[in-house]
Amino acid sequence: MLPISLCIFDLDGVIVDTAKYHFLAWRNLAKGFGYDLTEEQNEKLKGVSRIDSLDLILSWAGIEKSGEEKKLLAAKKNDEYLLLIKNITHRDLLPGVHEFLRQLISLGVKTGLGSASKNAKVILEQLGVSNLFDVIVDGNMTTKGKPNPEVFIMGAAMCLVPPNRTVVFEDAAKGVEAAKAGGMYAVGVGNESDLGEADLVIEGFEGFTYQSLIKKIAI
Ligand code: BG6
Ligand code: MG
Repeated sequence: MLPISLCIFDLDGVIVDTAKYHFLAWRNLAKGFGYDLTEEQNEKLKGVSRIDSLDLILSWAGIEKSGEEKKLLAAKKNDEYLLLIKNITHRDLLPGVHEFLRQLISLGVKTGLGSASKNAKVILEQLGVSNLFDVIVDGNMTTKGKPNPEVFIMGAAMCLVPPNRTVVFEDAAKGVEAAKAGGMYAVGVGNESDLGEADLVIEGFEGFTYQSLIKKIAI
């Protein structure tokens, strides 16, 4: 039996570089109420749901809005975000992701998507990779955001794989925290300085294989 039976991937920043478009759209929205959102602050928004991200930005800006106003602002941000991602295609998959997914499938390792995004299914379709996932859990299906492990626990349960045989790939510190809270292995995709809590940090998927995963997380 393979030591790892399921790999769950975050979407934004792991499979495709949409994190930069989320940042652009939030920065423009914040400019609209006279606030300058920084890249450091944006790091804290990674993995955070749309409405919770807006709440954070408003609190940093020291601005209060009613529930209705917040709904409108979140919708405005999403409209701009959808415009920014409208031309995403298969070519925008991050290097090595497709090959790694295909290797997992050929070995019989299950694959899942675990994302806070409500746009996840649309983006996977645009990327042409929806059929590579056994299970897709997105922001429309969860009630608790990362670092709560709900999204990953749901994915593993749907695949009938226990947490200790599941690896989660995440670019956000909150996502790494969620995977660990769910009793899963966490691989950080990005910088060691942001993702230090992960069991392993990789720069990206180029040349990354199931064998290197098993070797590096020392199972
Ligand atoms: C996460 C992103 O994947 O999805 C966050 O890291 C984003 O930046 C969240 O806010 C929700 O995305 P969406 O597409 O539903 O607004
Ligand atoms: Mg992410």
